[in-house]
Amino acid sequence: MQIKIAPSILSADFANLQRDIQRISTADYVHVDVMDGIFVPNLSIGIPVVQSIRPVTTLPLDVHLMIVQPLRYVERFCDAGADLVTCHVEADTPENIHLALEKIHTKGKKAGVVLKPNTRAEAVLPFLHASDIILVMTVEPGFGGQKFMPDMMDKVRAIRRYIDAQNPACELEVDGGIDPDTAKIAVEAGANVLVAGSAVYKADDIPARIRQLRGL
Ligand code: DX5
Ligand code: ZN
Repeated sequence: MQIKIAPSILSADFANLQRDIQRISTADYVHVDVMDGIFVPNLSIGIPVVQSIRPVTTLPLDVHLMIVQPLRYVERFCDAGADLVTCHVEADTPENIHLALEKIHTKGKKAGVVLKPNTRAEAVLPFLHASDIILVMTVEPGFGGQKFMPDMMDKVRAIRRYIDAQNPACELEVDGGIDPDTAKIAVEAGANVLVAGSAVYKADDIPARIRQLRGL
C-alpha cells in the first residue's frame, strides 16, 4: 500500500508559512487544522489562511475541521481552495454531517469524517459510502505535540476491515503523535495517510523525515 504523508502546518512558523509549506513539497498533502475554541479548547486558523496558502503550493490541502456544525462553513472552505475536507462525527447530528459531506462533493472536492478517541469504530458506518477518507484521531484533538495513543489501533484495524469490504477506494488517515516509530504501528494497523506536525517541523532535514515516515 502506498503511504501518504500529510504534514500539519499547526507546527509551522505562522510568520513564515509560505516558506514552511514549501519545505514540505515532497509530502502528499498539506494538513490544515481548523479549530473554533468550542469543539476543541483551542483556536487556530480559518478560511482566509486557506485562501492565502492555496497559490503557494501544488499539494492538495487536507482541511481538518475541528468546529461545531461544520455544515455552516464547508462550502466556504472549498471555495477558499480546500481539496479535501473532513468533519468530526461528534460535531453535529448525523443528518447534518451527511449534508456537509454532500455539500463538499457538490463543490467537486473530497470529503470525509473524523473520529475522536472516545468515539467507536462503528460510528463511521453510516458515512462510509459517502466518504473519500476516514480520519482516526490518535490524540485528543486540539493541540500538536501530544503522545500517540496506541489503543486507537484496534479502531484503525476495524475501520480498515470496513473500508476493504465496503469502500476500498476510501483512504484511512491517522492524526496525532505520529513519528517514525508510531507511523510504523499505524501503517501495520491499516492506515495509509499519516498526519505529522511536530515530527516533521522539528526535524533538521524535513525531506529525510518525510521519507522516514513513509517507512523508506
Ligand atoms: C491535533 C491536530 C493535529 C496536530 C498533530 O488536534 O489535529 O493535526 O497538528 O500534531 P502532532 O503530529 O505534533 O501530534
Ligand atoms: Zn489534524
